[in-house]
Amino acid sequence: MDGLTAGALSLFPDGATVEDGELALGGIRTSELAQAHGTPLVVYCQQTLLSAVRAYRTAAPGSLCLYSVKAFPSLALLRLFAGEGLGADVSTLGELAYALRAGVPGERIVVHGNNKSDEELAAAAEAGARFVVLDAPDEVDRAAAAGIERVLVRVTPGIEADTHPAIRTAHHGSKFGLTPEQALVAIADAREAGLDVAGLHLHIGSQLLDSEAARTGIEWLGAFAADCRAELGWEPRVIDLGGGLGIRYVEDERPPAIGDFVRTLLERLEHAWSLHELEHPETILEPGRSLAGHAAFTLYRVGVVKAAGTTTYVAIDGGMSDNPRPQLYGARYSALLANRAGEEAAGAYTVCGKHCESGDVLIDAVALPEPRRGDLLAVPGTGAYTLAMGSNYNAVPRPAAVLVAGGDARVIRRRETVDDLLAPEIT
Ligand code: LLP
Repeated sequence: MDGLTAGALSLFPDGATVEDGELALGGIRTSELAQAHGTPLVVYCQQTLLSAVRAYRTAAPGSLCLYSVKAFPSLALLRLFAGEGLGADVSTLGELAYALRAGVPGERIVVHGNNKSDEELAAAAEAGARFVVLDAPDEVDRAAAAGIERVLVRVTPGIEADTHPAIRTAHHGSKFGLTPEQALVAIADAREAGLDVAGLHLHIGSQLLDSEAARTGIEWLGAFAADCRAELGWEPRVIDLGGGLGIRYVEDERPPAIGDFVRTLLERLEHAWSLHELEHPETILEPGRSLAGHAAFTLYRVGVVKAAGTTTYVAIDGGMSDNPRPQLYGARYSALLANRAGEEAAGAYTVCGKHCESGDVLIDAVALPEPRRGDLLAVPGTGAYTLAMGSNYNAVPRPAAVLVAGGDARVIRRRETVDDLLAPEIT
């Protein structure tokens, strides 16, 4: 294996190896996976999922840890995580249905949403959700009317996380949460309405590559909790810190390890709370990407390889319908030529999809051996926000997903068919 492959391999799940020049996961060769399940195929590694969960549980043994279902709504992942004691953070009726179907108990479900429908509030009440997170002034009365008992209040302190603007959530002008002034009113109103206002929620943003904004957010929360005590005679007994920890998509990104990130946040909380002489709160964490993202790669089949001016395009059998993150966030990815993973790079190639627009480029430039039709291209870091945000653009069915464990690859989501696409049509 050359240095290039070793570096790229570190972006793949823990069980990934190169055997006889071919990428394998948990001892299963990628060519076997492609042959058995077709491509594109999202390949999850159970060992990597479990080690991420355990890193959270070890660093925060006293916190309630919730998988943020939006990262990849999957019964298999939810069941695996629930077996490790995790709950679920849901933000729609559909995500709630996934959590309930997977057997996650209501007391381990927190319900979010910046525009919850009456149906969603009623379903949260019926599920006995641990908390509904109030996100707008009019949700106080609507939650009470829906029979919700326990709530958190989501606050927006005006902190700009260092991440793509589309996935910042705590800045001034955000569509999420309540300003500090609105939050004070909502807390008072909710208590007046008979709701148990258990605490506060703050989600700074996503794909954070350091803990700075989160630390600032926690300091702010401590001061705000003290304001709540001074103004309302109420202080939070629960603090939900949301999710946000990023993963490494390309070699030059260096996010903190889960354990370091979580410990830093909890220490900061401890410090802020003792500074303001507040009662130590229960804590909730809501990771999504850092649980599922690094645990999967997507396997594509190479089709057309062609030069256009100074660019050589390598076209794969998927694209923006199975991963729209490059188009939405300018996200960068890396790749390995899975069936020739031991070969020297021959140049930098542009990986494009099969969709009918020029913007359907998955990777601008990646060093690969000269790709040929029929090769397999593996793109790491696709376990979160890829299948979850996929579409059927160009009437392309979405890929299957498999979970590799114990030398076996189990289908956890079947490949869509053209009949699936045609099913809702009415003629
Ligand atoms: N809790 C709340 C209230 C959230 O809004 C989110 C993510 C999370 C937890 C989980 O955050 P994570 O640990 O995954 O960063 N589609 C985007 C990411 C959107 C994240 C939205 N909220 C992407 O592909 O980068």
